Amino acid sequence: MQASDLDAIDHHPISAALLGWYDVHVRALPWRKRPGEPTQDPYRVWLSEVMLQQTTVAAVGKYYTRFLELWPTVGDLAAADESAVMAEWAGLGYYARARNLIAAARAVAASGGAFPDTEDGLRALPGLGAYTAAAVAAIAFDRRAVVVDANVERVVSRLFLIDTPLPGARPAIRTAADTITPDARAGDFAQAMMDLGATICTPRRPRCLLCPLAGQCKARAGGDPVSLPIKPAKKAKPQRTGTAYWIERDGPEGIRVWLVTRAAKGMLGAMRALPDDGWAARRDGDKVPPITARWEALGRVSHGFTHFDLELQLMRAESPDTSALKDGEWWPVAGIESAGLPTVFAKAVRLALADTTQASGDAEQ
Ligand code: ADE
Repeated sequence: MQASDLDAIDHHPISAALLGWYDVHVRALPWRKRPGEPTQDPYRVWLSEVMLQQTTVAAVGKYYTRFLELWPTVGDLAAADESAVMAEWAGLGYYARARNLIAAARAVAASGGAFPDTEDGLRALPGLGAYTAAAVAAIAFDRRAVVVDANVERVVSRLFLIDTPLPGARPAIRTAADTITPDARAGDFAQAMMDLGATICTPRRPRCLLCPLAGQCKARAGGDPVSLPIKPAKKAKPQRTGTAYWIERDGPEGIRVWLVTRAAKGMLGAMRALPDDGWAARRDGDKVPPITARWEALGRVSHGFTHFDLELQLMRAESPDTSALKDGEWWPVAGIESAGLPTVFAKAVRLALADTTQASGDAEQ
């Protein structure tokens, strides 16, 4: 028996049972050490936790690997070109995360290159929220921290039968999570809760027969774990319309398209994009093109953002007078993949290149 097993036994029966289960069933994920191994590189833990917010494990994998190839240390990321980082983030959504990532990497590098090793110290880094600070403190530094993400909310609301609707239930969920968080192996405990939520205590069809905590679960005893947590009714998403403009020019270096970099803050901030007519979550685009030209309608793409659905009309002008264009770049169409366009514009590009209708649906910020 290892010292870590003894630590677990000292604690709440729920954490002991969960850690015992985790020792056997831990998912092999690229950012994870095996249970019982020494603590790990905080940069890797932090990068993975930022990527995993609102994003599935499956979607994160290849982004995580690519980031570590390009920027193996926090110092490398701090020194990176912001546009290169934003382009590599393209497709992952919630782009404020990438802007904050760069700001926090630069703050760490500026103060000597070592991550703060406490929850409070981490929380003081720019853009590092309560969840990320707790997760990194627990997972990278083995600090006791109460880590609550959506998986943990589900598991805890069921274990303790917390039936007030979210978000009002959050303080009670947090208090309950605190009572079962062990002093030792808090990082393993947090990840075990996440794994339990992802593989056993799933939203619609929990596998209670396989659950190491079934005997201690009040919702299971009450008969209706699936009803928890109680979520507020979903608001209907507004439908917005907008226009994007494909401005093409042919020259000795091949066909190029005009791309802009969006304003640093706000929707898809600091991302490369096609020029558009100013559509946003709360307003339709004004249909005013960036230059006067003979515009041809190529069709529409639809895209679901978190708070609204967008129908984006794509207009094309071939070799117009571009002398009025400013603040952008002529990008080779053959290399458009490397421009790092967010998904909604990547869909528009596919439409421009294929001139057929596109797929729609995946949500992004
Ligand atoms: N979701 C967020 N962080 C996670 C982690 N460390 N392991 C598994 N799922 C997660």
